[in-house]
Amino acid sequence: MKILAIESSCDETAAAVVEDGRHVLSNIVATQIEEHRLYGGVVPEIASRRHCEAIVGVTEEALARAGVSLSEIDAVAVTYAPGLIGALLVGVNFAKGLALSTGKPLIPVHHLRGHIAANYLAYPDLEPPFLCLVISGGHSHIVEVRSYTDFHVVGRTRDDAAGEAYDKAARAMGFPYPGGIEIDRAAQKGRPSYKLPRPSVEDHPYDMSFSGLKTAVLNLLNQTKQKGETLNREDLCTSFQLAVCDILSDRLMLVQEAVGSRCIVLAGGVSANSGIRARIQAECGERGLPLYMPPLCYCGDNAAMIASQAFYEYQAGNIAGLDLNAHASRAIDLG
Ligand code: KG4
Ligand code: ZN
Repeated sequence: MKILAIESSCDETAAAVVEDGRHVLSNIVATQIEEHRLYGGVVPEIASRRHCEAIVGVTEEALARAGVSLSEIDAVAVTYAPGLIGALLVGVNFAKGLALSTGKPLIPVHHLRGHIAANYLAYPDLEPPFLCLVISGGHSHIVEVRSYTDFHVVGRTRDDAAGEAYDKAARAMGFPYPGGIEIDRAAQKGRPSYKLPRPSVEDHPYDMSFSGLKTAVLNLLNQTKQKGETLNREDLCTSFQLAVCDILSDRLMLVQEAVGSRCIVLAGGVSANSGIRARIQAECGERGLPLYMPPLCYCGDNAAMIASQAFYEYQAGNIAGLDLNAHASRAIDLG
């Protein structure tokens, strides 16, 4: 079954054709990062307008690279939640138009389910159940993936997402948007010489909190400036990354022990982080747990991961009507 998927939840306009959920025939991503960088973050209205301009060309290219015509596609899939509402609506309405004109089924895909499915593209043997740490710009979840379409959130961030904390801390340190990768690069050159907090959430041992860590970085930067002192930015990045790794690996392993999961999976844009990958790999190695991490090319937003998840949603009978709406926020377990 060949699925054409459309993704437009944030600042990448993406289209892909994937066969049977696992074989990528094409994967086209048009990024808007350069334009949003001018403003230090994503400007929602600009994102929607750029999606409008790019979506037809990106889709045509995805079909051409896959060597298939629209009539040879078996279904159209689209990210319908969560994300920037104006951005999502562009993709949803475009996908509806395609489904209407071709008479093919329309498959709605939750963006975070797509991030998890990115792993299916790289690992043919990977199947649920497993425990997944989903870390993106907007979400940080520890999810029990019980089947391809049955998800249970065990732990979550109570405030900022991991990627949001990276981007905000990076901005304060003077890095361009998106700062996560900048901190990651600088962290590899420094020493963990700054003491930063590892906040926990009272009475909710599996939940995470990143805003206190981000505020600690902002306070340190302000205090240093006020005193007229200079701060070693690389050391601060190393210290910050170590704190994030401690928080994530501590919660993930706590949940793993509680739930008894025998397989760990990473997902989302922040799973590209070298420190987090190395730490979780070491923790899983010590415990003899198999670990799957998406290849870097599938960590960030793309439509191949949406097409992969769509295959399983279709098999579960999850097909949308042409009244499908977009949702800025929606829980992963609701589908
Ligand atoms: O999953 P994603 O592409 O978009 C959302 O669904 O939110 O994640 C984007 C996030 C951004 O916050 C970006 O800074 C972060 O992923 N990111 C990283 C790295 N690469 C991307 N954060 C830390 N280290 C990285 N290497
Ligand atoms: Zn994403």
